[in-house]
Amino acid sequence: VARQKIALLLKTEQPIENILIKGWVRTKRDSKTFSFIEINDGSCLKNMQVVVDANLSDYTEIRKLTTGSAVAVWGNLVASRGGGQKWEVQATRVDTISLAPETYPLQKKRHTDEYLRTIAHLRPRTNKYGAVFRIRSEISWAVHQFFRKRGFRYIHTPVITGSDCEGAGELFRVTTLEPSLSLSSDVKSLFSEDFFGQESNLTVSGQLSAEMLALSLGDVYTFGPTFRAENSNTSRHVAEFWMIEPEMAFCDLDGNMSLGEDLIKDLVSFTMDHCMEDLDLFSRFVDKTLLKTLENIVSSEFVRIPYKEAVDILLASKHSFDFTVSHGSDLQSEHERYLTENHFKKPIIIYDYPKTIKPFYMRLNDDNETVGAMDILVPRIGELIGGSQREERLDILEKRMESAGLSKENYWWYLDSRRYGTVPHSGFGLGFERLLMLVTGISNIRDVIPFPRTPGSIDF
Ligand code: 4AD
Ligand code: MG
Repeated sequence: VARQKIALLLKTEQPIENILIKGWVRTKRDSKTFSFIEINDGSCLKNMQVVVDANLSDYTEIRKLTTGSAVAVWGNLVASRGGGQKWEVQATRVDTISLAPETYPLQKKRHTDEYLRTIAHLRPRTNKYGAVFRIRSEISWAVHQFFRKRGFRYIHTPVITGSDCEGAGELFRVTTLEPSLSLSSDVKSLFSEDFFGQESNLTVSGQLSAEMLALSLGDVYTFGPTFRAENSNTSRHVAEFWMIEPEMAFCDLDGNMSLGEDLIKDLVSFTMDHCMEDLDLFSRFVDKTLLKTLENIVSSEFVRIPYKEAVDILLASKHSFDFTVSHGSDLQSEHERYLTENHFKKPIIIYDYPKTIKPFYMRLNDDNETVGAMDILVPRIGELIGGSQREERLDILEKRMESAGLSKENYWWYLDSRRYGTVPHSGFGLGFERLLMLVTGISNIRDVIPFPRTPGSIDF
């Protein structure tokens, strides 16, 4: 018999003879005549209850099974006689694949998130983290489905790059290791401290490359890792995160906002349609209002307001903020959360930010002061999406680069796209981990990515 997944077996309507499951022991209870073993194989939240009769050969071995041990179980899937589960396995044979010692760190008790972060290599074996990472996988597929339905092409942009898209200087430098001394000096000179003699870094965003493909293929998107060397310890920032970046030719800021709103709603409702068993765990143990929040996101029309109005609202509010806000200043996360959670009580899209606080590539508005930027903010998270219409006019783009102190020589290829067949185009970036925080109710970004990259955590 071939191994079957517990998730599928638990969905059956009929008993099944001769099944084989493999997984890890979560708990075991022994009586005089039986042992009950709860097995989890990661395919779903639920465990399979296995009933082992004391008459089974090897029963003395089976009794030694500990939490965390790996087993293979042959038997019959039958209606469960006890409460709690519909099906159980009447074992005909149980093999120990490996026995976990008593030092196994995940004993049956509730562990804190902080402790589990110190054993990030084992935490996916807990209910909570198993659920997070299954949802992460499901939503990844939903992202591709969303864009495919709309005729977008999936493109791959480089991780190693010479440009700094956001211009914020939060770059990880890429260097080559010194080669061994036996190499000739000709070859050695190629291996300078940089990328074979050129300055290079890990990408902060695939956008600039994605623009080149949008101006060739029409509608495209990337979905890959991006890197920011910000040494800040917040619950919403990591140094390595996954970003979904659509880029559309012949698209203005309104079209961009609509796509962002559709994408968020689509992914949230997909999760409610397909991941309810796992979501249920979060709504019971992490955030009791989770499902209401998610329904609110799917059913509400996102508010669209210019930056100026958003600042006016903040200035008029009686709320005391840690950071003061003024026209021209960047919004802090407390401001973003106030607007979505206290004022509008739903997601909002802020657009037309001052040019002084946004990158060079955003399209200058007619007022010469603001740019066609848009950020989508959601309750509990703040900024989930950042995007803009791009500056497609060569002369204005060149001026913006000059005032940003960027070398036109380095961006010759980017400027080329404005020389040859330039068109209005737009795009945005959605932070995948922040989306996962939104749908799970988890409040720390370190807990929605298997191995978070934050200052001090590089072991795993
Ligand atoms: O607003 P950002 O910096 O926008 C860009 O990088 C654009 N080039 C994207 C584009 O237009 N194609 O980042 C986009 C999103 C943010 O809204 C946030 O959700 C997420 O990426 N993000 C982070 N997530 C986790 N940790 C960090 N350090 C993040 N920085 C940004
Ligand atoms: Mg941003």
